[in-house]
Amino acid sequence: MNEQYPFELAPLPYSYDALEPYIDSRTVSVHHDRHQAGYVKKLNEALREFPEFHSWSLEQLILGCDRLPERIRTDVLRNAGGVWSHEFYFDCMTPKPASVCPCGALAKAVDAAFGSCERLRDVMTQSALTRFGSGWAWLACDGDGRLRVLSTGNQDTPLPLGLRPVLCVDVWEHAYYLKYLNLRADYLEAWWKLVDWQFAGENYEACGCGKISVENT
Ligand SMILES: [Fe+2]
Repeated sequence: MNEQYPFELAPLPYSYDALEPYIDSRTVSVHHDRHQAGYVKKLNEALREFPEFHSWSLEQLILGCDRLPERIRTDVLRNAGGVWSHEFYFDCMTPKPASVCPCGALAKAVDAAFGSCERLRDVMTQSALTRFGSGWAWLACDGDGRLRVLSTGNQDTPLPLGLRPVLCVDVWEHAYYLKYLNLRADYLEAWWKLVDWQFAGENYEACGCGKISVENT
């Protein structure tokens, strides 16, 4: 995988049908091979004639978008966000979750911030359900390890807010429409069965110092 231009499509961490029956094989293949691949392609196209940015990472492009020429700024921000978020999204799921709730430092932080794993589930589900149109719901932490749930529109990430993602769910219709039609709630209920809490725990421990927060939104 290239960390800079030309960006490449990250391989799926599992087979197309690995998330069945919760997320079907066709949805995963279209989502990864067409949508995620499309963001990679469009990002490279936007940057092609701007070699001064070819050494920038995805996060540098997202966080430093103010320094990009205006005529490519929106395309780069949208598509870099799309690439970053989709790589993260597919890594947030596993066909064989080791647990149904977080463990270790993340478990303590979740309990402190939300009261319980079940409450976090409700808060994040509600955030995902109430995202109007296309976007994402995130569990994220700040540099002090404080957790919060938030939603972003389109391909925006929590990175410009100074937050490190711990977990995310894609609520663009392309993530669920082939199987669930307009029933976003059913997709979310299924998605929770696939959450890789080990991955989320690693993200949490990498983003802060394991401090416990009582904040949530
Ligand atoms: Fe997506």
